[in-house]
Amino acid sequence: MRLELALGDLTAERVDAVVNAANSSLAGGGGVDGAIHRAAGPELAAACRELRHTDWPEGLPAGEAAATPGFDLEARWVIHTVGPVWSAGQAGRRRPLLASCHTRALAVADSLGARSVAFPAISTGVYGWPVDDAARTAVAAVRSAATDVELVRFVLFSDDAYDSFAAAAS
Ligand code: APR
Repeated sequence: MRLELALGDLTAERVDAVVNAANSSLAGGGGVDGAIHRAAGPELAAACRELRHTDWPEGLPAGEAAATPGFDLEARWVIHTVGPVWSAGQAGRRRPLLASCHTRALAVADSLGARSVAFPAISTGVYGWPVDDAARTAVAAVRSAATDVELVRFVLFSDDAYDSFAAAAS
């Protein structure tokens, strides 16, 4: 698997699947979730509601992943995942959930036949996870995943996040 880093807007990525940093309700939100819903169009919200009516009636748990079409996005699919919220006292218990966001998203990508996947820096915005720690967790999880995905690209939205992922990847 090739691992790449890029600085920019995840919604513009020309990959098979983009990963959304969603919340358990799958009802949309701010940050990258809001950007993806704006770029994909209103059908994405309807597809997320359908996920809630079918596979995930209780909501998508932290660490899990579920796919919808990408609709107006360049990417054919959106793989929604829910990162853990940062809590210093709970970091050790929650870090495996952040790793799971990546390994489950890659497993969902495999089930779709997606060969290229772009990730944001999950949990490092509203959910407050320190970006250095998130970068190490994300890169290690992707590198250790057994997957048929050939290209994973982390698409970072700030120089700081990019530098953290570059340090984690080197
Ligand atoms: N492209 C790439 N990265 C982006 C974009 C974008 N268009 N917009 C924001 N980001 C970055 C943020 O800078 C941050 O580094 O995505 C990272 C994740 O931040 P959030 O989007 O806030 O996601 P998260 O911290 O996982 O919190 C999830 O926020 O938007 C709500 O509905 C979402 O409740 C959920 C929570």
